[in-house]
Amino acid sequence: MSKTHSMLILPGDGIGPEVMEEVKRVISWLDENRDIKFDISEGHVGGRAYDEYGVSLHDDTLAQAKAVDAVMFGAVGGPKWDGVDYDKRPEAGLLKLRKELNLFANLRPALCFEPLVDASSLKPELVSGLDIMILRELTGGVYFGEPRGIEELGNGQRRGVNTQVYETYEIHRVAHVAFDLARKRSGRVTSVEKANVMESGLLWREEVNVIAKDYSDIKLDHMYADNCAMQLVRTPKQFDVILTDNLFGDMLSDIAAMLTGSLGMLPSASLGEAGKGALYEPVHGSAPDIAGKGIANPIATILSFAMALRYTYDCSDEAALIEDAVNEVLKNDIRTADIMQPGKTQVSTSEMGGHILDALTKLNN
Ligand code: IPM
Ligand code: MG
Repeated sequence: MSKTHSMLILPGDGIGPEVMEEVKRVISWLDENRDIKFDISEGHVGGRAYDEYGVSLHDDTLAQAKAVDAVMFGAVGGPKWDGVDYDKRPEAGLLKLRKELNLFANLRPALCFEPLVDASSLKPELVSGLDIMILRELTGGVYFGEPRGIEELGNGQRRGVNTQVYETYEIHRVAHVAFDLARKRSGRVTSVEKANVMESGLLWREEVNVIAKDYSDIKLDHMYADNCAMQLVRTPKQFDVILTDNLFGDMLSDIAAMLTGSLGMLPSASLGEAGKGALYEPVHGSAPDIAGKGIANPIATILSFAMALRYTYDCSDEAALIEDAVNEVLKNDIRTADIMQPGKTQVSTSEMGGHILDALTKLNN
């Protein structure tokens, strides 16, 4: 008998529900063709949860998220909720999930599929074969640091405050993940901060060096974040694993995403201590401008599900099968609007999902 895998699906807002539909089809395909069984529950998060419950993450949904093997997350946010209280905004639901599940390691692979080398805004030779792993610290730094807030100064002036703060253990545990990842890849880590301006960056650098002593087989470099942003668009293939904090990781992963052709291609995995919960989500947001039109690219979400198969469910063969199926479909010139190129065939969200299922069936036989 095969084991049943528990999963909570939180489609969220904007294009989230549309792209998640295609993941559900892949889940059914795995059930029928590979005898992999999922026990799926579904809930609301973000603006959708706010409309339903008045909060962007209900306590019951959080309890469910803690009880399952992994959460599949779509996207949150949109102009509809621009006016809601700051602590109830859709994004707060996602940040609370990350914090409460202690998902400190966010893996954002930027991989350029060969058929898409021409879709990148960089020259094909710069991105062909690109395979970077951005490891973003996800539960610390300025995203969560205290004090924070907006103060009235009383003289018609106000002060907005956020705090960038890291402690040794936070740096150590994510550095371990970076070095372990590098061991399974090309053996290089670039640690990124602003040690020239920020004490928290200096501490980051020093503490990463401490952990590096356990990994003499790994080549470690340090780079300032601004330089890293520049190097990513100059010679992106110089990188293997980029280890960085929450805020720099947010920005650098958007840059890296674009190198691969579209933000619609990039998956991510957010992991905590081994075996204690995980969340998988596309790097793209809720894209309210195209929501409901059926044109969103479901690939980032499907690839996020493939990461779940690999990192949570111990099904790396099926993960590789899904990645191969995506490559196959791209090779056959099938494109959603965001990666459309001259001479290719433009398809809708569900058509793209259908093509991926067909490719899965073909590769499985
Ligand atoms: C991301 C997003 C989030 C972040 C938002 C939606 C809160 O941009 O996952 O990269 O800033 O972390
Ligand atoms: Mg972001």
